[in-house]
Amino acid sequence: MTERVGGTGTAAGGTRSSRAPAVRAPRKRKPGSHTAFAAQVESWQSRVEQALDERLPAADTEPSRLHAAMRYCVLNGGGPRVRPLLLFGSCRAVGLSEAQVEAAACAVELAHAYSLVHDDLPAMDDADVRRGLPSCHKAYDQGTAVLVGDALQSLAFQLLATDDALPAAPAIRLRLTVLLAEAIGASGMAGGQALDVATRGQRRPGADIEAMYARRTGALIRVSVLMAAACAPEAAAHLQEALAAFATPLGLAFQIQDDLLNVSIQPGGSGQATRPDRASRGDAAYPAVLGLAAAQQRVRALYAQAHGALRPFGSAADPLRALTEWLLVRSS
Ligand code: IPE
Ligand code: IPE
Ligand code: MG
Ligand code: MG
Repeated sequence: MTERVGGTGTAAGGTRSSRAPAVRAPRKRKPGSHTAFAAQVESWQSRVEQALDERLPAADTEPSRLHAAMRYCVLNGGGPRVRPLLLFGSCRAVGLSEAQVEAAACAVELAHAYSLVHDDLPAMDDADVRRGLPSCHKAYDQGTAVLVGDALQSLAFQLLATDDALPAAPAIRLRLTVLLAEAIGASGMAGGQALDVATRGQRRPGADIEAMYARRTGALIRVSVLMAAACAPEAAAHLQEALAAFATPLGLAFQIQDDLLNVSIQPGGSGQATRPDRASRGDAAYPAVLGLAAAQQRVRALYAQAHGALRPFGSAADPLRALTEWLLVRSS
């Protein structure tokens, strides 16, 4: 398999049978090595890479430029796969195997990848770099990037409707479909993006920013947990509620923390822009409004709230607890 990116506008991609793209930015946010948790995360990440690879269209099938671009945006430099990891951790809490939720994990990651492709377009954040590589419209072209987002979103719902690996009950498939639609539609990610665009450059109260974050980023993080619960309708109602109570603060914390990671924290409390490919949010960024210390405090409080919600699960939620602690200390 060969892949070329950037500059030429030549389609990059792979084949359905290939397991790993040739061009891959360094993976980030790995937990410390030599721990059982690190091994678990690595195994989950391998699982989701393979599952995505198998479910994406072959790059040499017409229209090959679109298919190659879809593979490029999902598989190359694919990030730590936070949402699938949360789905796998949550499935353990409700007594399911990873195989039973694998297709749902792919659907969430495809929806996330779609949101990033459109987010980077010149009409949105106009970002040239994504995950250390040329963003989709730079490696390909704007028209292709629009269509990649469209096709990835459609593929996500197609998996929920038809993927053999999911629990086959139509009621479960319907619930998963509704959950994902709510999470990425006007009441979720797309609505949050609309609020972000509408308030760009304005100084907004912290509560308004949080409401926007809860939709734009929080909803997709939250639904990663809720979809695992939806695959286990037999799980007790109080456990389903506990997972929801875990997922909501986690999603918000993730985005505020992402803001904090876009500034380097100086000993005197000032911040300076880092991660230039991701510092495109303008004045609405939470730390700019509340201050770094208050933003850090809010992140810690939200993670503690999430952690506390897992109490009813006992040791079944240990993987989720470890994931939560790992996210709290992430540095990139
Ligand atoms: C980036 O999300 C965009 C936000 C929602 C903050 P991630 O940090 O999960 O991005 P990848 O998938 O790891 O690249
Ligand atoms: C991206 O948010 C979140 C979504 C696409 C919904 P940002 O624009 O804040 O994140 P980066 O900096 O592009 O990753
Ligand atoms: Mg954005
Ligand atoms: Mg952006």
